[in-house]
Amino acid sequence: MNAAALRAPAVRALLLQCLAFPLMLATVWLLARAGLPQSWLGVTLLQGAWAALLSWRAGLANWWRPIQLLFPPALLLARGAADALALPPAAFLAVFLFLLLLYWSTFRTQVPYYPSGRRVWEAVAGQLPADRPLRVIDIGSGLGGLVLDLARRRPDCEVSGIELAPLPWLASRLRASLERSHAHFLRGDYDSLNFGNYDMVFAYLSPAAMVALWRKAEAEMRPGSMLLSYEFTIPGRDPDLRLVTADSRKILHIWHF
Ligand SMILES: C[S@@+](CC[C@H](N)C(=O)[O-])C[C@H]1O[C@@H](n2cnc3c(N)ncnc32)[C@H](O)[C@@H]1O
Repeated sequence: MNAAALRAPAVRALLLQCLAFPLMLATVWLLARAGLPQSWLGVTLLQGAWAALLSWRAGLANWWRPIQLLFPPALLLARGAADALALPPAAFLAVFLFLLLLYWSTFRTQVPYYPSGRRVWEAVAGQLPADRPLRVIDIGSGLGGLVLDLARRRPDCEVSGIELAPLPWLASRLRASLERSHAHFLRGDYDSLNFGNYDMVFAYLSPAAMVALWRKAEAEMRPGSMLLSYEFTIPGRDPDLRLVTADSRKILHIWHF
């Protein structure tokens, strides 16, 4: 695992749970010596409390504290529920593998999968100049909804998506072949692309990704091209245009280069 992955909050949270383990054991030992009664739920809450305290000291975001506190008792309760329902251990493995393939590097990128939707696709399509063919990419294309929609509307354009997580990428490839779309889907990290090859880059990421995204766009995008970000803006970089989607729920931010 590289240094950047070790700095990821989810990895730090896991390491802090490991660090909390000997502290929990020592506390349990002291409580036992004092003759206090103990239960498995109490032990897991102690583990969670130590992890929450360490997370606070380590400067993790506030919302990690309840997660750290409740994670060990949640594991215990899940184990109890599995016993009660006579679930085979393979059921847990299957759920784990499904979530792994769906979310993949989210622990590092801090950008999980959630789809944008038709109103956003319409707004994005409305920004594509109609008088010339363009190269368009959705960075983090998920299940491929936006890319397939743009490819349907604009057969003259080269529309592609890049996605890190294997399951959404596979789903988008299958959807493209089923509807014989000319859209392309690449599997990989958008950081490996040169944004200079595109006329429009669309992003629906998360606040955690926006500063690095701007740095890359500023370094690589050509004059005349545009960057679109749905929902999330870039700190300190006002967009040239803000479009409210037709359902008035969220904003599409647009920067012209
Ligand atoms: C919020 S979803 C957006 C999905 C799609 N663009 C849409 O509008 O419905 C973000 C997607 O970006 C992917 N992702 C996150 N970081 C990435 C990266 N560095 N390179 C490629 N894909 C990434 C995630 O796996 C996730 O599927």
